[in-house]
Amino acid sequence: MPRHFLKVADLDREEILSLIEAAKASKGKQSGALSGKSLGLIFSKPSTRTRVSFTVAAHHLGGHCLFLSESELQLGRGETIEDTARILSGYLSGVVIRTFSQRDLEAFAAAASVPVINGLTDERHPCQALADLMTISELHADLSAVKLVYLGDGNNVAVSLMNICALVGAHVVICTPEDLACPDWALAEAKALAAASGATVETATDPEPAAAGADFLYTDVWFSMGQQKVPEKKIRLQPYQINERLLSLAKPSCRVMHCLPAHRGEEISAAVMDAPQSIVFKQAENRLHAQKELLRLLMGDAQA
Ligand code: CP
Repeated sequence: MPRHFLKVADLDREEILSLIEAAKASKGKQSGALSGKSLGLIFSKPSTRTRVSFTVAAHHLGGHCLFLSESELQLGRGETIEDTARILSGYLSGVVIRTFSQRDLEAFAAAASVPVINGLTDERHPCQALADLMTISELHADLSAVKLVYLGDGNNVAVSLMNICALVGAHVVICTPEDLACPDWALAEAKALAAASGATVETATDPEPAAAGADFLYTDVWFSMGQQKVPEKKIRLQPYQINERLLSLAKPSCRVMHCLPAHRGEEISAAVMDAPQSIVFKQAENRLHAQKELLRLLMGDAQA
């Protein structure tokens, strides 16, 4: 059975921590771990970081990448997900999928005989969470002492971030308006992971007390890909913007994170985005390093 990465908890705590340590150690290094192997990227949504970082990661491991936009595959003309998964498994050694439905991703993975990686669905973004944790751990060796506060829309990025913090034992606060909170199933999942790791998982609705004492403030766009820009939602999320005032309530050493792309002036002020406390570009770079280790773990030759 191939090993998939469809959600954060598909790897256990030790695997995630060791992947992150390996990613820090292998920055800039190349190997032949994917020599002779091809990775397919099936994307139904736009991407800058995920597409390019996986392509370069495969190249650094001696492998080859094919970008397959869904509309150019027969999938876009009605060939089933399961048939596509079986056929591509005969050509490729692994597949990264960016799509809408987590169920479609799971259906593809169930029919595939090669590793399948979630490159973002409407529910989850686990590869982003790996890079986020790597970025946090470059600044804080003791993850159990970290307080991370996510502010804004309780979306796919928030779900995977909450899960990875819960898995490794950090203190995570998801601060959203009540009706934009992470779904109940995601909170239940994170609480179960936290019970095993000793993490603290909290939800909040008031950004100012939530930000107090934070080591990291994190945000994401208020309108995910495919969502309509509803003006009321923008107004309701305004108090959750990471700006100089909110940042001043966190620890003086607090760093600001964003998975990008950002909308300066919406979820994050331009001043904070470009401030010395912002580590958003380091986060983006770490997508490459973390995913290189993910590919090595799921698809690589152990000896290479
Ligand atoms: N953060 C992220 O996944 O970026 P892209 O949408 O550009 O891939």
